[in-house]
Amino acid sequence: MLTIALPTGRVFSEAAELLAAAGLPASSLASPGRKLVFEEENFRYILAKPSDVPLYVSYGTADLAFAGGDVLQESALPLVELLDTGRGRCSVVVAGPAPLAERFRGHVSERMWLKVATKYPRIADNHFSSKGAQVDIIHLHGSIELAPKLGLSDCILDIVQTGSTLKANHLEVLEHVSDVSLRLVASKKSVALRWNEIRAVSRAIRRCGEVLP
Ligand code: PRP
Repeated sequence: MLTIALPTGRVFSEAAELLAAAGLPASSLASPGRKLVFEEENFRYILAKPSDVPLYVSYGTADLAFAGGDVLQESALPLVELLDTGRGRCSVVVAGPAPLAERFRGHVSERMWLKVATKYPRIADNHFSSKGAQVDIIHLHGSIELAPKLGLSDCILDIVQTGSTLKANHLEVLEHVSDVSLRLVASKKSVALRWNEIRAVSRAIRRCGEVLP
């Protein structure tokens, strides 16, 4: 039995669609309801919170997983990245109210001690440190755009896909940090012990990724 972890939320259907198109027995993922574990033939699928997916792979609970580049970077776990599916594309950005843009255009000292709300404290720390700016990172778990709106932070570091959440909350992109997409990853142990099965799945997904629109 090969166990594959899928992130719930915005990229779940993309991952499920890739598995089905790759020819894996994954029909149960078309309408998962509230169930979190599915078994079809010799595959088990587990549905986990996106930020927890790397952990399931790292502990060997899952052999393979789909995870966003943002989540992988934040987890900093030593997983094996097999494939960039090119799906679920979005960007990690620093965003804030328009008047803050001037401080981002100016010298780095203008950004010192900004309060930055984020779901990604490690990425935020790396990003601002690499620019030489010491900031105050506020770790939240969702609805990040609330923080500058209510004065909890000056700005946010978050993912942007359509941009509609930023727009609805009167925030704008101040700095681009990185581009993100959905990756197929495996645990080191599974790669060592089950390479043939893992390679077959990875190749099937790569092939259908090239064909799907
Ligand atoms: C993410 C992100 C933004 C939003 C961006 O949140 O944190 O809030 O999506 O998407 P957009 O650019 O298409 O508007 P998500 O929907 O995953 O929910 P969360 O705030 O509960 O984490």
